[in-house]
Amino acid sequence: MLEKEISSIRRECAAAISEAANSQKLGEAKVRFLGKSGALTLLLRELKNVPPAEKPAAGKLLNDIRAELEAAFAMAEENLAKKERELRIAKETLDVTLSKPYTEYGALHPLSVVKNDIINIFTGMGFEIKDGPEIDYEYYNFTALNIPADHPSRDSADTFYINDKILLRTQTSAVQVHVMETQKPPIRIICPGKVYRPDDDATHSPMFQQVEGLVIDEHVTLSDLTGILLEFAKKFFSQETKIRLRPSFFPFTEPSVEVDLSCAMCGGKGCRLCKGTGWIELLGAGVVNPAVLECSGIDSKKYSGFAFGMGVERATMIRYGIPDMRLLFDNDIRILRQFR
Ligand code: PHE
Repeated sequence: MLEKEISSIRRECAAAISEAANSQKLGEAKVRFLGKSGALTLLLRELKNVPPAEKPAAGKLLNDIRAELEAAFAMAEENLAKKERELRIAKETLDVTLSKPYTEYGALHPLSVVKNDIINIFTGMGFEIKDGPEIDYEYYNFTALNIPADHPSRDSADTFYINDKILLRTQTSAVQVHVMETQKPPIRIICPGKVYRPDDDATHSPMFQQVEGLVIDEHVTLSDLTGILLEFAKKFFSQETKIRLRPSFFPFTEPSVEVDLSCAMCGGKGCRLCKGTGWIELLGAGVVNPAVLECSGIDSKKYSGFAFGMGVERATMIRYGIPDMRLLFDNDIRILRQFR
């Protein structure tokens, strides 16, 4: 009678263990058999009703089956826990081959790209980079550059004044004066930086960037300038680029030239970009006026030099064929994306 009940509990228990799909179900099954009112516990309680002669045998049977069930549950618990742990680890695994959600990458603004390119080309030719104040004395921006007191560029219509003597620099040539005052030749520098003029249209902005260059040494001539600028044009635009010098006037250089590039779009035949001329104006330059050297304490009998100045925005517009400078300042992401 007892044996029958035990073997049916053993069968039911084995079935319950194999059916338990997870630790929680297994725990419930354990309570059903071994809990306070579990099937086996109830059977154990019946032991007191067993006649004394049969008690030892019945007690042994019951203790054995209890040990057997406890061991079976312990083993099943361990198996399930292991399986569940493996499942969790498998789920947590990072699949590095999975493609991630699309991310937008930023990029340098075309003006920064162009400025860096210009700087890299000149530093590659041995030029040093020099910085100077954006707010400066009119002395550095005008007077020391041989710009006469009545020159139209000094007018408040062409220059932002802070007061009578202090202004927002209109050209980074002002930095050259600071350098000439403090450094002895040989000088071979470029001055990249922001400059300010009260102009605002498709090809002018009240703030724009220049890179000006200055070389002062013994026997520096216009041919050195031509050679350096041709080298620059080939590196910045393309190997096929030619340059042309046209006579011009700047108070701080004598002779002064305007430097044109052969039009990259038509190769010099004449097109819309170069307005049919085959040439595009790039920058102003010239041989440093001896008066400028003397003003900063450099002996103009011993030393000579050349200077040039170009607009970063203008160079960017030429390189990429951008018709309106304002596109470079609007920061319209649809425009900027094209330069990535
Ligand atoms: N500073 C002049 C400008 O801003 C450019 C220039 C620089 C011309 C050096 C000649 C020599 O227009």
